[in-house]
Order: sequence, then structure tokens, then C-alpha cells
Amino acid sequence: MGVKVDAHGPSLGIRAAWENRPVSENKDETNKARASRPNSAAFKEFLSTGWAEPDDVATTLIAAAPYAASRRDRLSAQFPGRRIVVPAGDLKVRANDTDYRFRPLSDFAYLTGLGADYEPGAVLVMEPTDDGHDATLYVVPPAGPGDEGFYADPRAGEFWIGRRPGLAEFAAMTGIATADLADLPKDIRLASHPHKPVSRALSEMRFVKDEYEVQQLRDAVNATIAGFERVVRELPRAVAHKRGERVIEATFDGHAREEGNAVGYETIAASGAHATTLHWIRNTGQVREGDLLLLDAGVEVESLYTADITRTLPIDGTFTEVQRRVYSTVLEAADAAFAVAKPGVRFLDVHEAAMEVIEKRLTEWGIVPEHEDPDAKLFRRWMVHSTSHHLGLDVHDCAEAKRELYMEGLLEPGMVFTIEPGLYFKADDVTVPAELRGIGVRIEDDVLVTSDGVENLSAALPRTPDAVETWMTGLR
Ligand code: GLY
Ligand code: MN
Ligand code: MN
Repeated sequence: MGVKVDAHGPSLGIRAAWENRPVSENKDETNKARASRPNSAAFKEFLSTGWAEPDDVATTLIAAAPYAASRRDRLSAQFPGRRIVVPAGDLKVRANDTDYRFRPLSDFAYLTGLGADYEPGAVLVMEPTDDGHDATLYVVPPAGPGDEGFYADPRAGEFWIGRRPGLAEFAAMTGIATADLADLPKDIRLASHPHKPVSRALSEMRFVKDEYEVQQLRDAVNATIAGFERVVRELPRAVAHKRGERVIEATFDGHAREEGNAVGYETIAASGAHATTLHWIRNTGQVREGDLLLLDAGVEVESLYTADITRTLPIDGTFTEVQRRVYSTVLEAADAAFAVAKPGVRFLDVHEAAMEVIEKRLTEWGIVPEHEDPDAKLFRRWMVHSTSHHLGLDVHDCAEAKRELYMEGLLEPGMVFTIEPGLYFKADDVTVPAELRGIGVRIEDDVLVTSDGVENLSAALPRTPDAVETWMTGLR
């Protein structure tokens, strides 16, 4: 997705960055209503001088740099003679002159190792040579003291946004040659050649994680587990609040900002019947004792790798009989998926193992209507999503890969994916007994394929109903 220079997002990013430069001398022009800054030459001179040299200039490679170099080499080998352009993306306006916090596009992070939020507009260009590619990282130079925009440009001036690495620093951090983004249009002509093949190649490279990535994912999972613990401790406050789901969201999201970069996706804090809405992110509901809370949340660490974990918890600490029955069926489906996942097995087989359990149990419960076509799979009414997706820099990682290599692809050591079956009985679903209506359960773990099976990276979060209850009692 980060390489479609002829498509909407990234191409806009490049264009916006080019067209925005040089930064306007005084952005107050666009904000005349509240302009107040002096415009005198004396003021400009005074603001340009009298600043000590920074004492935090980066001079060494970041930890991800050698891994990123090897990824560039592997990508280079797949595209001999072809120029590869991978933008970081640009700032996105939130309202008027305020932007969303920047997060580089994942393919850019993957190929540069840069994870933090200081390179909007940057573009990685890999120029073909006789025996590979030469990489250049085009970045917007920082607007420091003496630079145009230092104090006058709220989007790029260091007075406003803090110090950013300069060209030499980005080179030292990444091991990649750097150039001013302003030179990009003259250095290369960006014809709108389609980069779909590069995007696809990157998605397919990203299936198998290197040791750096696995460690980042372990860190993300562990930070997420700690966030779930914090949420359980805050449950009494959530129950007392008129919008308890927001208490839960805020607790987890605050934790993610404290311990990592952010959440890897919007937190799903779904209590009661909201748990049957697969991506309930409004989180406007009350949290009531006797109901279940479905919390689907992930911390994205500074390197931008994210966890994606779900637990469904009894809000008062104890499952009711019917909640436990639904929960145990989902758990049985998850365990069936864990049991088949190992190298050489199709990704889709993991899903099918879980679905076999769901179909069997729902049929036993007598809620699946009979149908002459076995492919009708009417039982999927209560679990319409897939059991698994790859996980990495993106919560739904590797999404541009070919289906033959994703769903039909074989598991390999180093792959990381979720196992997340669920059952969702909507409150208004009159096809199921009343006692099931309004119950939604999902159990989602993040697993690493090993030489002979999978390691459950999120195993430290209890999964069985008894263990969940004991864990919750211990935290409250
Ligand atoms: N949190 C989105 C998902 O589980 O895929
Ligand atoms: Mn997921
Ligand atoms: Mn999830």
C-alpha cells in the first residue's frame, strides 16, 4: 500500500510534500483572524540566533537498520532494473490547520527501519544499478534556527513541533544516503508507473518475520497484556460511569501511549450486546455487572509493530452458565485451530479447524437450519469473519499478497498471525433461543510459527473460563 505512487494516499503524500515546499514564511497568513506575531527584521534576526547546538544529534545506526538493509537487498533482487519508490506518506488534516499525529506507512517503516513520527513526506527511492539498487532517502530538512519557518511554520518549524533529525542524522540512523525532498522532482520523474508488483512483493516478504520483528511483536504483546490487566483493575470505575466503555477505551489507550507509540487500531470496548458488533469502536455504552465485556485491543510499540488480542470477560468476575457455554465453544474452536497450526499446513486449514468445531456445536444446539447445499454454511451467520490474519507492522498484515500465498499459502516458521474465533448472537436475532441473544464472545491470541507448531505469544493472558475468573479475582 505504501508504494502505489499512482494511487490516492501515498501519491498525495508526495505531491503535498512537494507542493508545500518551501514552507510558507508565515503560516499566520492562513490564520489572519488570530495573527499576532511581530514581522520586523529585528524580531526575525533575534529569533534566528542565540540557540545552543543540540546535544542529542544521532550518530549511530538504529537497531532495525541492518534488518532493513537486508530487506532492501531482497526486494532489490526481485526488481532488477526497476526503480522502486516507497513514500512515508504525509500529514493528514484533522480539522482546519491541525493534523492527525503522523504514522509512516508500513512498507516505508519496513524498508528504512524508521518507526517514529518525524518523517512526514519522506520518500525512499531505490534507483536501479548494474548489480542491484542504490537507495536514497528523500526527507524534508528540519526547519531549525535560522531556517525559514523555524518559528513561523507550525507544521514543520522546530519551534512548534520539536527537533527533527537532519539529513546527516537520518543517514547515520538508517545507513541510507539522504537528500532534500525538494530535489526529488528533478532527480526522478514520477511517471505514474504502477507499483502494484512492489507492494505485493513487500506484503509477501513480510509474511515471515526476522528476529528483530519477532522481538518487537513480543514486546507489543507483553505491553498489551499489561494493558488488559489495567483495564480489569479499572472495571469498578467503568461500571460506575455512565459511559463505562469509554473508561475502558481510555484506560487501554492511555496505557498504549505510555508504553508504546499508540494503539495499533481503534480499541473495541464492547460490553453486553455491543460485543456482537464485530468492530464496535464507538464505545459509548454502559458497562453492567452480569454482562460480558469483549475487549479487542493492541499496543503498537515505537517500531510500529502491533499486537491484536481479544479477551471476553465477565464484568462482575463470574461467567453465567450460558455465557460459559458460549465461551467454552469458542475456546474449543480456538484450541482446534492451535492444534493444527504448524509448518506445512495451509493457512486456511487453521480457520477450517476452528469452523468445524463451531459448526458441530451450533448444529448440536439445534439452531442451524438444514439446507440441501452443504456449501451454504448457514452456521456462519454467527461467525462471519475469518479465524486468522497475519500480524506485524499492520494489524491486518501482508494484505496485498496473492490469495494463493495468503489463504492458500503454507505456514512457515517465523510467521505471526492471530487465532480469533468468535460467536455473536445479536440481541435482535430471533432465530436463536432468547438466552443466547445479546451474547458475543471472541478469544484472540497472537501466535508465532515455530519449527513444529506455534508458540502462543499471548499465553500469559488467561484463556479458560476458570483461569479468567481466577485472574480477575486476583486483580481486583
Ligand atoms: N481487531 C481487529 C481484528 O481482530 O482483526
Ligand atoms: Mn485480529
Ligand atoms: Mn482483534
